[in-house]
Amino acid sequence: MHRIYLRLIAIFVVIVTVVLTISGTYSQYKLSERLEMRDSQLRLSVLARLQISLPPALWNLDKSKVDSLLESEMIAPEVEEIRVYDADGSNLFSGKIRNAVGKIVNVNTNIPMEDSKVSASLAYTTPDTNNRNSENKAAIGHIEVKFSRAPINAVLSAELKHKILEILALDLILVVALSFSLRMVFVPLTQLRDSLNDLATHETEEVEELPENRRDEFGEVAGGFNRIQRKLKSTIENTRQAEDVARRASVSAEQALQNLRTAQNSLVQAERLASLGGLVAGVAHEINTPLGITLTGASTLQEATELIQTAMNTGNIKKSEMVRYLETAIESSRLILGNTHRAAELIQSFKQIAVDQTNEIKRPFNVKEYIEEVLMCLAPKLKKTKIQVSVNCATEIELNTYSGAFAQILTNLIMNALTHAYEVDDIGHIDINVQMLNSVLELSFCDDGKGIPAEYLGKIFDPFFTTKLGKGGSGLGLNIVYNLIAKQLDGSIIVESVLGKGTRFIIRIPCSRP
Ligand SMILES: Nc1ncnc2c1ncn2[C@@H]1O[C@H](COP(=O)(O)OP(=O)(O)OP(=O)(O)O)[C@@H](O)[C@H]1O
Ligand SMILES: [Mg+2]
Repeated sequence: MHRIYLRLIAIFVVIVTVVLTISGTYSQYKLSERLEMRDSQLRLSVLARLQISLPPALWNLDKSKVDSLLESEMIAPEVEEIRVYDADGSNLFSGKIRNAVGKIVNVNTNIPMEDSKVSASLAYTTPDTNNRNSENKAAIGHIEVKFSRAPINAVLSAELKHKILEILALDLILVVALSFSLRMVFVPLTQLRDSLNDLATHETEEVEELPENRRDEFGEVAGGFNRIQRKLKSTIENTRQAEDVARRASVSAEQALQNLRTAQNSLVQAERLASLGGLVAGVAHEINTPLGITLTGASTLQEATELIQTAMNTGNIKKSEMVRYLETAIESSRLILGNTHRAAELIQSFKQIAVDQTNEIKRPFNVKEYIEEVLMCLAPKLKKTKIQVSVNCATEIELNTYSGAFAQILTNLIMNALTHAYEVDDIGHIDINVQMLNSVLELSFCDDGKGIPAEYLGKIFDPFFTTKLGKGGSGLGLNIVYNLIAKQLDGSIIVESVLGKGTRFIIRIPCSRP
């Protein structure tokens, strides 16, 4: 601010100085022109007067008169020296000069004057004695006058000094006047600048309002500034409140997300237990048959044994009765034994799957056998449909990984195929092909059902995406499959589907998990 202030003053001073210098130079030039003209007129008039007044006194050789005439001409300060020579031209008749202190004294030297002199001849006119009407002119001498330029130079230099003083005085007045008038502008401007700086660097509450008591434009500017400041304060206040609201919203959103994650985890857990529950139900149903047969066999054996016992007690037993009893006993024992084995087998498979489902442990297992165990557990469900499952897997393929996850993945894919790929009573085929390629197990799970529409293909692994909402679908099955493969088994899964032809999931998992 200070710099603009000084710059403005400097600009005005320079402009005024330049303008005054130009006009002063012009008037100086005009003055010198006038002085030069006056000087040349003076020269002419001095010479003319001397040519008229001197000849009679010179004719009469009246030196004192000549002297006094010369002195009177030397009153003009421009005349520095006058010499009068006689007709001979070499004898100085009279001469006057202004000495160093300005006094007029006689010239007492014959040394010729410098070149800057002006000369004029002197002639005396006498009446012609022969002719009354004409006159004779006789040359009686000449004058030499030296003029000085000192008075002109003095006037010019005095004028120059005067002009310089005038410019300096005007500059001074201008500086004082500008300082006063610019202060009127710059004081409120400085206040405004300070307030703007405060506004930029301090909290808005700490910035004081500008005084609005002036009735000029600055008063209006101060009013405008104060209004902007108040508006800014309220905007900042609103922003702060909005920030608070947003912060609170973000906290509660985070809380909601946390709750959602917890809910998701619970759902995943529930889904796991639900599929386990499904398996339990299936296995219980499956065990029911061998147990029923075992029960029937045991009752038949008991009845036959009681009959043979009664016969033995009465001592009335025939050989044929004994043979029939033994046949019944052998058949019943075979049935009981076979079906108990079957039940034990079922329980063993289920136990293994159930243990794997509940414990996340890594263990080596045979892939083909394990797939068949899972299918055995799902047999009750499969039996209700017309879907055939065929497994194509070499018997020696082994995996050393999380078997529970493997079982869960397979269960989900089979249940999805049964639920989504086919309508009730549809005839279908599910092909499970397994091969080992460079220590990576590739399992292709293929159904020939309805297929998945292209617009859903990118979403089926998202949590909660289901086309069976409200009909028992939660949309978590494939998301769990995806996470188990990616996170627990360190593998990958891709899906391809042709609408109306079927769906294929290709799973790749390393044969052994570190
Ligand atoms: N084999 C398939 N054939 C056709 N569509 C399928 C198949 N498998 C999955 N889908 C589609 O993918 C969707 C998502 O499957 P996902 O297993 O994640 O959920 P869901 O089976 O609907 O419900 P949940 O498994 O939680 O009970 C299904 O709703 C279905 O539309
Ligand atoms: Mg599912």
